[in-house]
Amino acid sequence: MRREDAAKAAPVAPNGDPRWYKDAIIYQLHVKAYRDGDSDGYGDFRGLLDKLDYVQSLGVDCLWLLPFYPSPLRDDGYDIADYKAINPTYGTLDDFQRFLDEAHRRGLRVVTELVINHTSDQHPWFQRARTAPRGSPERDWYVWTDDPNKYAGTRIIFTDTETSNWTWDPVAQQFFWHRFFSHQPDLNFDNPAVLEAVTDAMRFWLDMGVDGLRLDAIPYLVEREGTNCENLPETHAVLKRLRATLDAEYAGRIFLAEANQWPPDVRPYFGDSDECHMAFHFPVMPRMYMAVARQDRTPIVEIMARTPEIPPDCQWAIFLRNHDELTLEMVTDEERDYMYTEYAKDPRMRINVGIRRRLAPLMGNDRRKIELLNTLLMSMPGTPIVYYGDEIGMGDNVFLGDRNGVRTPMQWNGSWNSGFSETDSAALYSPIIVDPPYGFQGVNVMAQERTEASLLRWMRRLIAVRKTTQAFGRGRLEFLHPLNRRVLVFLREHEGDTILVACNLAKSAEAVQLDLSRFAGCTPLEMWSDQPFPPIDETPYALTFGPYGYYWFRIRGDAVADGPGAGVGALEAGQGGGA
Ligand code: NOJ
Repeated sequence: MRREDAAKAAPVAPNGDPRWYKDAIIYQLHVKAYRDGDSDGYGDFRGLLDKLDYVQSLGVDCLWLLPFYPSPLRDDGYDIADYKAINPTYGTLDDFQRFLDEAHRRGLRVVTELVINHTSDQHPWFQRARTAPRGSPERDWYVWTDDPNKYAGTRIIFTDTETSNWTWDPVAQQFFWHRFFSHQPDLNFDNPAVLEAVTDAMRFWLDMGVDGLRLDAIPYLVEREGTNCENLPETHAVLKRLRATLDAEYAGRIFLAEANQWPPDVRPYFGDSDECHMAFHFPVMPRMYMAVARQDRTPIVEIMARTPEIPPDCQWAIFLRNHDELTLEMVTDEERDYMYTEYAKDPRMRINVGIRRRLAPLMGNDRRKIELLNTLLMSMPGTPIVYYGDEIGMGDNVFLGDRNGVRTPMQWNGSWNSGFSETDSAALYSPIIVDPPYGFQGVNVMAQERTEASLLRWMRRLIAVRKTTQAFGRGRLEFLHPLNRRVLVFLREHEGDTILVACNLAKSAEAVQLDLSRFAGCTPLEMWSDQPFPPIDETPYALTFGPYGYYWFRIRGDAVADGPGAGVGALEAGQGGGA
């Protein structure tokens, strides 16, 4: 397909809104882990195609696929050996196109990975670079030195495996630069040919029709002596060039920034709406866990207070868990110690600067806590991302290396290989979780489909209720500050739709009294049931909660306007007080 045609053939949208990503709910999965359609032990696009009914049934709008390109798989595909092909184990380009078209036909958008900071050392560009003479244009595609003390102010990210960001290459007789594994050399963005080549790779997938690209590891694109080699202006210049191409040639497509940084350092990745449409909010994620462990809302309230405004057409992406460790880079040393003590007592649960566990085990398999965290995920500002398997409360396997313990096969049913694959169990890319309480015989989609009170059915309902308002995706946020800090209360407001969220972070029953006088005369409607709660008046409004209990209430704007208190505009006024 020609580029101009592709721009015209922008994917079918459930609504034609170019800001679709603001209302989306994203489901993240690895093709390898989802469903094996050809019985070789690895998931593939044929298998995924067969499971689109299920994905659609969740109520999500968008799929984010982990890397599926040819790769030696030493970093699970983030070590790319060919940017414009599919790993044959997962299928063919035709299989991918079929999957993409079918997803679009169902109104599901698809975000894929653009990993441009580095390639695999098996990529032909690197093989060419290492054999080319020093100083030649071919060598210049990567970052080389004779002095491994260069860029000494740069931290190491994979602290468990790497001791330096430089690795000696006996073929090139020089050191090459890598921010991640030593088999993942960083591309040299000071060479214009590199930007041209990665732009070409970007066009390849956009031409096929993907709706968005997650930009992996983008803080590290450019290096400069005397800096920490992160978030440099030259890196932002590269991103602006990519965005200009996207905007000029592909309507309605988006960039999602993976920049694991503090909020003020992430803010520039939105630029003036000329870099990324979305960026992960890394710092809020561990603080949701911290708030529950401490039974205190302060960590969440504080980090949101430190979160800068972003341009109106930009959006945070929020998540509880993903394919990586639960990263603790964006917390203080003290907070990190606390998180390790609370959530990773066994050293095997730790990797690099983080915790390699899934949501359900982190929550001690306590259904009330799992619901609470998902409720936060679906109501805090931003677009929520659900990691495959967490919707059924899958467990993890800390005996597998690297981050593989949270990347085990999807548990579809209680039969052979959990319905993931028909091949020999020994041939699977990873063992399936078998031990209670997370073993596939108990925790699987089929069992939960058949159980009215299952987590899966609750998650579907949660997503459906979220979708009854745009306030969660687009609304402004205001915390209320009742005296009881064990309860987190906030308002989300968008175009006259006002939602009150109240969550008990404690294992005990709790009560709060809220100043809702601005809504006097209104009746809160509990959103799951549409049941009215007692009307609001000028006096403190009392709410009681069971352990880890939560409420979403709708306070309708027209009712607000009728009340004696100020209208929704009064949301501008804070409630005062500390966290
Ligand atoms: C970020 C990815 O999320 C992670 O899985 C990967 O290991 C690094 N980038 C390096 O590619």
